[in-house]
Amino acid sequence: MATVSKATAGRVDIAPNAFVVPMAQTIVGSMAGGRPNFMAVAWLTRVNYQPPMLGVAINRRNFSHGAIAASGQFSVNFPTVDMTAVTDYTGLASGARVDKSGLFEVFHGHLDAAPLIRECPLGIECRVHTAVELPSNTFFIGEIVGAWCAEDCLDGDGAPDPKLLRPMLLTMPDNRYWAMGDVVGRAWHDGKALRVRAGG
Ligand SMILES: Cc1cc2nc3c(=O)[nH]c(=O)nc-3n(C[C@H](O)[C@H](O)[C@H](O)COP(=O)(O)O)c2cc1C
Repeated sequence: MATVSKATAGRVDIAPNAFVVPMAQTIVGSMAGGRPNFMAVAWLTRVNYQPPMLGVAINRRNFSHGAIAASGQFSVNFPTVDMTAVTDYTGLASGARVDKSGLFEVFHGHLDAAPLIRECPLGIECRVHTAVELPSNTFFIGEIVGAWCAEDCLDGDGAPDPKLLRPMLLTMPDNRYWAMGDVVGRAWHDGKALRVRAGG
């Protein structure tokens, strides 16, 4: 039986933008004027299982926004925890004013306007499927057409190993980068212990 209470005792109604949950910190790549551009992006999520899709929320003021809208392509690159400075820089400087193309060694997979970053052990190339216009941002939903993982970050079964990828996480609004913490359980597994009790 669920316990339902309307009382907010012990809870503080914080500002709507003040909640803190760790997000994967990425670098989104696009092509503008024939050269790669990169921007720090943390507002992203998987949005569709089959075909695989992910969405990135890009503020319309960013130079990358026009590039992604024009080409219909973008990449999502996952830097390691060693890459905080260069990742942060891509979020401080705009491609409208500075050339960020030389920051990384670039390679291309299947798409010509989704530059992948060699220094990032995991990179995903996307073709825009849908662009959802929100008040300040466009939520670009991309169909994943390629996902590239560094060989030395694969586990014995050939799957990307999070411990080897060493992804960067971001929390807002305290604006700090984090490393991943400890494994605390197994998904689609640990809940099985409650099945008998709940009868599900
Ligand atoms: C840690 C961090 C995370 C960011 N996440 C996003 C994001 O998810 N979406 C967004 O539109 N801008 C985000 N930004 C801001 C852009 O990266 C920043 O405005 C950048 O300079 C845009 O580059 P561009 O003008 O070359 O596209 C983030 C910046 C930082 C430092």
